Amino acid sequence: MRRRAALLIGFALAATACSATTGEIAATAPAPTTASTATTSTSGAPSPAADRAAGLASGEGPPGQILGIGDDYFPQLGNPGYDVEHYTLDLVFDPEETELGAVATITATATADLDTVNLDFSSLIVSAVFVDGAAAAFTAIDEELTIAPAAPIAAGEDFVIDVEYSGSPRTAGSAAVPFGVGWQTVGNQNYVVAEPDAAHSWFPANDHPLDKATYTFRINVPEDVVAAANGTLVDRLTDLGRVTWVWELDSPMASYLATVVIGDFTIVEDPAAGAVAGVPIRHVLPAGTTVTDWPGLERLGEMVAFLAELFGPYPFANYGIAVVNGFGAALENQTLSLFDRNVARSFYFEDVLVHEAAHQWFGNSVSLGRWADIWLNEGFASYAEWLWIEREAGRDAMERAIAAERADYAVAGLTAPGVPPSFDLFNRAVYRVGAMTLHALRLTVGDDAFFDILRTYAAMFADQSVTTADFVGVAETISGVELDELFDAWLIDPKVPEFPAAGGS
Ligand code: TRP
Ligand code: ZN
Repeated sequence: MRRRAALLIGFALAATACSATTGEIAATAPAPTTASTATTSTSGAPSPAADRAAGLASGEGPPGQILGIGDDYFPQLGNPGYDVEHYTLDLVFDPEETELGAVATITATATADLDTVNLDFSSLIVSAVFVDGAAAAFTAIDEELTIAPAAPIAAGEDFVIDVEYSGSPRTAGSAAVPFGVGWQTVGNQNYVVAEPDAAHSWFPANDHPLDKATYTFRINVPEDVVAAANGTLVDRLTDLGRVTWVWELDSPMASYLATVVIGDFTIVEDPAAGAVAGVPIRHVLPAGTTVTDWPGLERLGEMVAFLAELFGPYPFANYGIAVVNGFGAALENQTLSLFDRNVARSFYFEDVLVHEAAHQWFGNSVSLGRWADIWLNEGFASYAEWLWIEREAGRDAMERAIAAERADYAVAGLTAPGVPPSFDLFNRAVYRVGAMTLHALRLTVGDDAFFDILRTYAAMFADQSVTTADFVGVAETISGVELDELFDAWLIDPKVPEFPAAGGS
């Protein structure tokens, strides 16, 4: 029944690898800098644990140790052997100097016996690590933070890691997109866009959507600065001219969707839109602006309600967007999609609003098990744009729009959406031919089965991670149709197929 795994293309993954192999054991930690609430810093003295960490650093790790969770496209991302439940990111940020002092507290469960624990982390300086409150030795080399707890951790045990770190956060090169991702500083605004591989450039993480977790963000900034993050604002504590904004995200999230938005913003509630959407709608808008200053935004409640009718209930506790300067795109950060202000001013703002909202179901609630299947995010969110056209302008208008695009893509000579190049993961075919794949499915199985498939897939894999085979499995079960050929033709074969005649019921 299940189709075979998509062929992987052995593209230049070398681009992901870092060069340096030197690094030091932080046997004596630098004094903590601006770090906040932190545990006192007494870092690991030389010990057997330090030796183990040193062994790993010099490449003498335990045989068979793999520094990655097993994603063919990003061999170094993520780590096996444990499962993160929760991240608490305690951030003290100085906007004048663009300086961050932080403590990341990571609550996890071991899924294997662990002598050492690996986190993905790069760019910032680690000053101390604690495991269950005890100082632990560590190495920070390339993009791996290797921690050697005083005693090994047994499979099944819960543990808590505190990582104290600081520095000036910057964008990081990405193996998958041709621009810097991660922490962005644009004028007096700071925000994070981390898809797919830059979360670990601003906090230590098991940086792969296979390991989703809940989050608390505590962001300490000067009193006149607004700091937002994913989820719900639960507290705002003022002290000595500074304010700590506390945001809580109680649904599991992939690390790349974690964001903070810091600067001269205002948090705008839209109760009217919330009443329509069925969940609270709140935005993070440039100070002095409100919903009506961003024409199109007033329809977001309607959009969420429309998508919920088609896909099933909105998966999270709230939603909204942040409008920022200078990144040229939009990104579906969980519960708080980020929009460049020029996108929010463009004629296609409504399409992108629908697109990022649809990602909350497809991409954020139902997450990728491997980055090669990125069409499961982008094809679905793009198809939602066509569904919105269908609602606004009718089925014929939608069919004409899709047919015109199919004709363009048939001659464009792009790779098929199911086998994207790892260095160009978000290429146009992933979005548009990915969406056409869903349209071909709809024409094959009929509207009733098609929307039943989408709803079942969204419900069945909510808060989990999937592969293309999971989606095909649901589609075949519900439709009773053998669909291998259809999906192979659209996802694997570089030729863009003709649409099938409408069938189903
Ligand atoms: N997922 C984004 C979108 O469709 C595209 C994207 C991927 C992106 N990586 C990014 C945007 C990094 C900005 C920055 O809608
Ligand atoms: Zn998208």
